Amino acid sequence: MIPEVALLARRTPRDPARAWEGYWHGVRATGTQGEVLWDTDIGPEAEQYAQSMEASMDCALPVLDVGCGNGRWTRWLAPRFPAAVGVDIAESAVQRARQETGDGHAITFRALDLTLPGSGHMLHEEYGDMNVFVRGVFHVLRGPQRDQLAQNLHALVGRRGRVLLTETNYRGSPLSYMQSLGAMPGRIPLPLRKAIGGIPVPGRFGPEERRAAFPEAAWQVVTDGPVTIEAVPMGGDGTTGIPGYFATMKTR
Ligand SMILES: C[S@@+](CC[C@H](N)C(=O)[O-])C[C@H]1O[C@@H](n2cnc3c(N)ncnc32)[C@H](O)[C@@H]1O
Repeated sequence: MIPEVALLARRTPRDPARAWEGYWHGVRATGTQGEVLWDTDIGPEAEQYAQSMEASMDCALPVLDVGCGNGRWTRWLAPRFPAAVGVDIAESAVQRARQETGDGHAITFRALDLTLPGSGHMLHEEYGDMNVFVRGVFHVLRGPQRDQLAQNLHALVGRRGRVLLTETNYRGSPLSYMQSLGAMPGRIPLPLRKAIGGIPVPGRFGPEERRAAFPEAAWQVVTDGPVTIEAVPMGGDGTTGIPGYFATMKTR
């Protein structure tokens, strides 16, 4: 399986922005029967987020979905807040999010790299303090980009907003991770194949990585803990569960 994975991985562009654009441009089907690994129908995973939001967020503020992809979670967030904004580095993701959303929701989607210095201040000038939802973005960034994204979030949430961060946090080897996602010699499920051959290699993101990106001098954790991130079915019945970590935070 390792040579097959290595061959696939060589196709991924080194520039993350190009990689994400190419990935989303090539997506033909989303949802539980689709090819986007993390994009399954929203199920029990959301319960923990809903509780945490109700307990910690001022729901009179707008919400930002960072790395919104095709906007599934932005649509879930929208009815809970007066305004919802979905931002993604890939223009093709934003186009798909607009198509899938249609006219039924008051959501703004825009293409923006949120690791760019100043992008947090720019959005803050437009919207003021915002609540921020991030699902599955930090674990695909390298250290400096994680720091930069967290700094931008600091500017965005200000005093009143909160961050709800949820990330995959598989602590085993890359090989056992792929096996847990249904890979075996001669058979790599399509959603996994497309991810390996198209997007940056994921890392793990748990409490340790959160402390590094969100230093205690600047951030206070309101709640945190384990979560199961739901992905599309890849081999077994029903959705695939990936061990994850979530945290709600405010600025100091
Ligand atoms: C693993 S996907 C998660 C998508 C979505 N949050 C979800 O859970 O369905 C990561 C998303 O982050 C986007 N992304 C990656 N780097 C980004 C950046 N620097 N700024 C904004 N979006 C980014 C990718 O294009 C991709 O849509």
